[in-house]
Amino acid sequence: MLPWFAPGSPVPLYLAPMAGFTDDAFRALCKQHGAGVLVTEFAQCEGLVRGGESAWRVLRIPGNQRPAGVQIFGAKPDFMALAATLVQERIRPDFIDLNFGCPACAVTDQNAGSSLLRFPALLQEIAVRVVQAIGSTTPVTAKIRIGWDRQSINAQEIVRRLEDAGVEAIAIHGRTRAQGYSGEADWGEIARAVASTRIPIIGNGDIDAPGTAIERLRESGVRALMVGRAALGNPWLFSALRAALDGRPIPPPPSQTERLSTMLDYAAALLAGASNASIRHLLPKLQAFTHGLPGSRVLRNRLSSCQNLADLRALVSCP
Ligand SMILES: Cc1cc2nc3c(=O)[nH]c(=O)nc-3n(C[C@H](O)[C@H](O)[C@H](O)COP(=O)(O)O)c2cc1C
Repeated sequence: MLPWFAPGSPVPLYLAPMAGFTDDAFRALCKQHGAGVLVTEFAQCEGLVRGGESAWRVLRIPGNQRPAGVQIFGAKPDFMALAATLVQERIRPDFIDLNFGCPACAVTDQNAGSSLLRFPALLQEIAVRVVQAIGSTTPVTAKIRIGWDRQSINAQEIVRRLEDAGVEAIAIHGRTRAQGYSGEADWGEIARAVASTRIPIIGNGDIDAPGTAIERLRESGVRALMVGRAALGNPWLFSALRAALDGRPIPPPPSQTERLSTMLDYAAALLAGASNASIRHLLPKLQAFTHGLPGSRVLRNRLSSCQNLADLRALVSCP
């Protein structure tokens, strides 16, 4: 059993894996503010097996970021099992998570990610092979959507197959692949999946405030909550959610100064001390820290003209 699901443990808060955003510096920030369980950005199993450094780079788990899982994706049972074995040996994660939810065409065109929801037997075979390869030492979990489209919702079948395969917990994003990120997450479907299984279900989709977290938890019966987009630029959300779940007063939101100086520290951590390096490629990650601030549009415009850390430091000292 994953120890954070032991009876009597507080409801775990997961940071959702988000490719291009949940790098190790951001995961560290979320951990510092109360995220309980972290997951890396996903890595393609073929890339890991072939030894591509770019695939391995996103999987680093510093010691202060545990418990943390590594997420892998692929469509071939052999490659997935081999990649999981390599990850287990090289990274020693607290769990390995199988991605059966990614809607991106680059992934579904390989019949990986959410595409596998249309091929439940193959999806199950992947899970079985990974569990056979590493399950005796490293727990295997999975992340799914509720189905490929409205006409083919099959979360309960997929959950049953994953449970039979020996998967130890399943995160369900309450949208179909066809929805992408639009519309609302269907927590009714998540609740039906919870009722159909004995393994822990982690509920995911549109949790952006303490009230929503409490309500979704109560109405669905999930054993954990996973938070994605609302945490981007706002790792403090985890402190608020943790306080709400523990029945403590919600801490006040961070001041503008704290948000911007955290953004600066984050950028510095991403550049690992290379103070003259360009920050252009970091802008989407940094822009997220300005959401909701007074004059955020002006701030974002000024941010987009920053070239390096010195420019960013000047902006933060005089916003
Ligand atoms: C930019 C971005 C990248 C994502 N990358 C991944 C990923 O690598 N693996 C995965 O399982 N889900 C990924 N997701 C989906 C999220 O983990 C999550 O399921 C989704 O955003 C819904 O949760 P939310 O409403 O709290 O954002 C990504 C989402 C976004 C917005």
